Formats: sequence, C-alpha cells, structure tokens
Amino acid sequence: MDQFQAIINDVCELVRRHAHPRRNTIAVSQEVAALLDAIKTSDTASRLDDLSKQVAGCTKCELSKGRTQTVFGTGNTRAELVFVGEGPGAEEDRQGIPFVGDAGQMLTSIIERGIKVKREDVYICNVVKCRPPGNRNPKPDEMAACEPYLFQQLELIRPKVICALGATAASCLLRLPEARVGQLRGKWHWYKDIPVRVTYHPSYLVRQKNEPDKLQDAKAKVWADIRAVIRVLNGEEPPEP
Ligand code: URA
Repeated sequence: MDQFQAIINDVCELVRRHAHPRRNTIAVSQEVAALLDAIKTSDTASRLDDLSKQVAGCTKCELSKGRTQTVFGTGNTRAELVFVGEGPGAEEDRQGIPFVGDAGQMLTSIIERGIKVKREDVYICNVVKCRPPGNRNPKPDEMAACEPYLFQQLELIRPKVICALGATAASCLLRLPEARVGQLRGKWHWYKDIPVRVTYHPSYLVRQKNEPDKLQDAKAKVWADIRAVIRVLNGEEPPEP
C-alpha cells in the first residue's frame, strides 16, 4: 500500500467512526464522510479482488493439485464481522463459495436467525483456500503457505470483531498450535488489535445431530459466544486489548 493510500484509509476510518447524524463530533458533513468511505470501500473491494486472482493461481502447497477451484471468501468487504473457518469441503470446492454445504447451512442459520443480519452483510472465509482431500484437517505446512492470504483479507477488511470457527481457525489466528475450542471459547482473544471470539465449528454441531443432549449443550455454548460477538457489534462490550 503506498503512503497516500494509507493516509486516505486512515482518514476514512477516522471519519467513518466519528460521523454521526445528530452530533457533529468532527467537522465534515455526512456526504463527505460517505464520499471518503466510498473511496475506501472501492479500494478494499478492488484489492480483495486482486488478492483473490492471486489466490486462484496459487500453487504454494499440495492442496492446489486436488482442487476444482480456490475458495477465497464471500460477503461484505466492509463487514464489521468476519467468520473464519477451516477450509473448503466438497460442496465449497464445487461452487467456489465458503460454507455452502451442511455446515454452511448451520452457519447461515446462526447469522440470519441468531445475529439477525443477512449472510451477505458479514464476510466469511477460511484459513486454507483449497479443499483438503477427504475433508481432513489442513497440515501445518499447508496452513503456513495459505495463512498470509487470510491475514491480507483481514488487513483489508479490518472488521470490528472476528469469530473463529473451530480449532484450526483459532490456532492460526491466535498462534496456538494446540488450540482446543473448549479451552479457548467463552473469553476474548486478539488478532493484532481485533477482538476474536472462538466457538465450535458448525460441522461440530452438524455431527451432534443424533445426540440431542450434546447438540443442545453445544448450541447453548455457540449461542453464548455469538451473544458476546453481538455485544461488541452493538458497542455494548468493548473488550480491552
Ligand atoms: N468448513 C469450513 O471450515 N469451511 C467451509 O467453507 C466449509 C466447511
């Protein structure tokens, strides 16, 4: 990013935070704020687009050999909330869109029925952008090769809060190779200066569907985590880094 663009981005961020319909806490009109925001939004969208083209041609690890296509990310490029999963499954590999299989339906329900926003209003992506064969977990060298793409996505979107879905996303974002969701959930963590809430991967919920007690327990925990995310989005719980 050149220095001029970095300054524009900082100004846009500042103005967006301070623009208010009634209180003039900063000496620019809402029109100016909207204009500056539009500059930033189109810059973010075009940089993400460039990055997704780079990812589409990536051959840095073995996963690239088995993919139908890369699965970069989907949603609002200026989302306040980003969900990070593990990696594409069969359906995601076929469609090129994250979380569109069974786990995806569960995630969509969490977003639309739980948080009560549209799926398109948040941003959804994964640690690895190519499908691990047989839906195995990505290996450490595959994660290491792919994670710079995720980090660039987060740098561009700069969400207010990140929700890490499962141990792979938690271990990548929090630099904890032995991450266990049970131990990490229920409190705030940090990716740089962005608060991170860890919760169970939607596939975990899908796998409990024949065990009603376990499903109930897991759902209650996910819902508690999502409520904490909502509080940050509403400005009710500003966690301190
Ligand atoms: N599981 C993930 O972690 N990501 C997807 O996109 C789908 C399933």
